[in-house]
Formats: sequence, structure tokens, C-alpha cells
Amino acid sequence: MKTGTRKSSPNGSHGAGLSGRVVVTGGGGFLGTQVVDWLRRRGAGDIFVPRSDRFDLVDRESCRQVVEGADTVIHLAAKVGGIGFNRENPGSLFFDNLMMGAQLMEEARLQGVTKFVAVGTVCAYPKFTPVPFHEDDLWNGYPEETNAPYGLAKKMLLVQAQAYRQQYGFNAIYLLPVNLYGPGDNFDPRSSHVIPALIRKIFAAKQNNDDQVEVWGDGSASREFLYVDDAAEAIGLATERFEGSEPVNIGAGREITIKDLVHTISDLIGFEGQIRWDPTKPNGQPRRRLDVSRAESAFGFKARTDFETGLRRTIEWWIAQPAALDPLAGAAPTTR
Ligand SMILES: NC(=O)c1ccc[n+]([C@@H]2O[C@H](COP(=O)([O-])OP(=O)(O)OC[C@H]3O[C@@H](n4cnc5c(N)ncnc54)[C@H](OP(=O)(O)O)[C@@H]3O)[C@@H](O)[C@H]2O)c1
Repeated sequence: MKTGTRKSSPNGSHGAGLSGRVVVTGGGGFLGTQVVDWLRRRGAGDIFVPRSDRFDLVDRESCRQVVEGADTVIHLAAKVGGIGFNRENPGSLFFDNLMMGAQLMEEARLQGVTKFVAVGTVCAYPKFTPVPFHEDDLWNGYPEETNAPYGLAKKMLLVQAQAYRQQYGFNAIYLLPVNLYGPGDNFDPRSSHVIPALIRKIFAAKQNNDDQVEVWGDGSASREFLYVDDAAEAIGLATERFEGSEPVNIGAGREITIKDLVHTISDLIGFEGQIRWDPTKPNGQPRRRLDVSRAESAFGFKARTDFETGLRRTIEWWIAQPAALDPLAGAAPTTR
């Protein structure tokens, strides 16, 4: 096969969804790296990670090539970013994510893949969804505007998965992870999400002895965050055990305001300066917390990592990176 990176594992037992070749698109990314590690630890013997420099999945022929010979496909590849990135790139976020998902699933079906795991996003939920977000409310409104092109493009994978199950008996499942965080996250200020953006900014302020840090919005929005290793476990367990057509939230089931998050990160970093809120910048979706009961009942997933422990590990990882001392630390944090 035309390969990107192929990884094999030591002996070990694995669930039904992990036998044969498992293709993990986006398997070299932040979440994907942890998913591949989880699969390896679980005993998956033939894991193929197509990288975008050789297989651009916006292109149909690349989709055909990567699913050739696959038993299971876990589709994590996506064009992603924070609120600023989303505002600047709505067209390509929509097109690339839609085309990657639609064509990959179609090629997987044509080539007889036995399980397709589609990974969506909490950004698919309507802007105003009763909290906690329940999967049954997914279609009750339009997403928050800056997230919509990305969120809706990924949401079409749910429609496709259900339609293909109905018409072709194709075994596709659809998961909706909440905002993730952890070591290895994207800390590029042009496209990072809220936690890395804040850590980078606050750590830089501490290094520079700045007496204040500016943060987008007014701090009132709330978010739920899931540690990346927990998300990888959820995806692995769903791949092994879940066969349903209904969408499943993947989250930690707890909510924190951006204001509290900023203070927690400041405390962990030891930054004692002032936080200056910029209410002229968007807050993003007002509140986010998922109902996580379906994941627990359907495939036994429950997040394990305590939020402060996860944050501490993420900060420790970041300050060990050479880029942590980069003066680029600037751009304003986002709330995606
Ligand atoms: N991070 C979050 O908070 C979060 C929350 C909910 C859902 N998700 C979902 O989780 C998945 C992984 O996200 P992530 O945060 O791990 O993002 P990431 O680190 O940016 O990884 C995404 C991967 O997608 C691949 N990719 C992008 N464009 C591609 C293309 N045209 N062709 C082939 N591969 C392409 C990249 O592969 P290369 O490395 O080879 O370039 C990259 O490694 C995404 O589907 C995302 O929507 C993430």
C-alpha cells in the first residue's frame, strides 16, 4: 500500500473493531497521536496513518488510496482552528471538512470497510442549546455563527452515516467530542484554541514581568474541556464496542467559565498581574456542557482526568517547549 506512517504493536488482545487494518486519518495530529497510542496499547496490529503531505483527503483519489485494504477507518483528519481562524477561513473550513468526510466515507463504503468512526464536534450544536447539551437537541437550531461552517460541514457526516446505514447497511458511527486540551495541543497563536492560547499568553506575561494580560470577550462564556487522553480512550472504546446510528457526545460533563479558567491558569503559572477583558471581541457560544450519559451507557466511557491535573500537565509540557520563550506569544485568546 502507498503509505504514510505505519505502526505496529506488541501482542495483546483487542476488540472486534480493532482487528485487521485500522486507518486513522489525522493520526499524526493532537488527538490522533493519542488515539494511535491507545489502539497500539490495546493490541491493534496494523495501523495506518496517512499524512496530509502525501494524501490530501480533500482529493477523492487520495481517499480511495487510504481506505484500500482497511477494515476500520477512524476519521479524525480535519481543518481546525479557534474563533479568529474560523472567522477568517469560513469557506475553506466548510469545503475541506465537508469534502474530506463525504468522500472518505463514500470510498470506505465502496471498498467494504466494516466500521467507520466519524468524529464530529461540539461546534455542531445550535448556538442556544439547553445545558447540558443532549444529542436529541442537535438539530434544534443554527450553530454559533463563527463555528457554523466548520461545525455544519462535520455534522453532514452524521447525516451521511445514518443514510448509509439505512440504505447500504454500512456500519458508521458518529461521535461529538467537546473542546479538548492536553500536551501536544496546537499553541500557534494564529489558530490555537482557548486553553493553549491562554497558557501561552499568561506564561509569556509572567516571563516578561508584564503587569497585565488582555483576553477576548468578557469571561462570562462557559466551556467544557476533555483531556486528550480521555478523548482517545472514548474513541477507542466506541470503535470496539459501539454499533448504533445515534450520535454520541464525548465529554467530561463539567463546565467552567472562561473567567475561572483564566484565574486557574494564572494560579498554576504563578502570574499575579491583572486580567483585562476586551468585551468588544466575541465570546463565542455562550455556554457549553454536554450530557455524557449516552457514552457511558453505550460503551462504558467515563472521563478520568481531573481538570487541574490535566491543566498542570499541559502547562508543564508547554513550558518545556523552546517555542514557549518565543515573543510571538501575542495573539488574543479565543473561546472555541
Ligand atoms: N481539538 C479539539 O478541541 C477538538 C474538539 C472536538 C473535535 N475535534 C476533532 O478531532 C479531530 C482531530 O482534531 P485535532 O485537534 O487533533 O486537530 P489537529 O491536531 O489539527 O489534527 C488534524 C489532522 O488532520 C490532518 N489533516 C488536515 N487536513 C488534511 C487534509 N487535507 N488531508 C489529510 N489530512 C489532513 C492533519 O494531518 P497532518 O498532520 O498529516 O498534516 C492533522 O494531523 C478533528 O476531526 C476535530 O474536528 C477536535
